[in-house]
Amino acid sequence: MTKDLIDAIQRRRSVRKFKPDPIPDPTIGRILDCGRMAPSAGNIEPWFFYVVKNNDIKHKLAQCSESWIENAPVLIVVVADYDQVMKRYGERGRDLYVLQDTAAATQNMLLAAHGYGIGSCWVGDFDDQKVKQILQIPEEQKPVAIIPLGYPVENEERPAVHKTLSEVVKIIH
Ligand SMILES: Cc1cc2nc3c(=O)[nH]c(=O)nc-3n(C[C@H](O)[C@H](O)[C@H](O)COP(=O)(O)O)c2cc1C
Repeated sequence: MTKDLIDAIQRRRSVRKFKPDPIPDPTIGRILDCGRMAPSAGNIEPWFFYVVKNNDIKHKLAQCSESWIENAPVLIVVVADYDQVMKRYGERGRDLYVLQDTAAATQNMLLAAHGYGIGSCWVGDFDDQKVKQILQIPEEQKPVAIIPLGYPVENEERPAVHKTLSEVVKIIH
């Protein structure tokens, strides 16, 4: 059993308040690398990651998302590339796989960040078209998540997991 992995899954919580300290580039690289290691349908790897450190661009992204994300030293914008997935899998690729693939990449990065002591949050609340415009994302690609990254301010209130295992599991014997 990889105890560190189990600990990371159990201890990760969304972080929305960050210290201004920069994140070293090699660490950002390793987090991104964990994103690209995610499973994907047909191994297409239909993702692209924009790494935003520029304050003006972060400000613009925060204006079409949630304002607090501007305070993160780094924003990763996870983008889904629909072209290849739709060519291979059609509607199922468009409606299911491409979103699952990029969700898996997103979760990998949240856990990797946690592993490096970096706080993060999965942000889905943004205006797709405005984000596309700001980052000049190609037509066939769609932003699916923003991941603010930064060293967490301690003692932040975080919600507890509120559903028990028996509420969400049905065992079929
Ligand atoms: C698909 C998705 C979209 C989310 N969008 C937002 C968001 O826009 N803003 C935000 O503050 N948190 C967002 N979250 C984070 C959730 O609020 C958070 O994961 C949940 O409250 C459980 O808390 P935890 O991450 O600390 O376990 C999102 C999470 C997911 C999975």
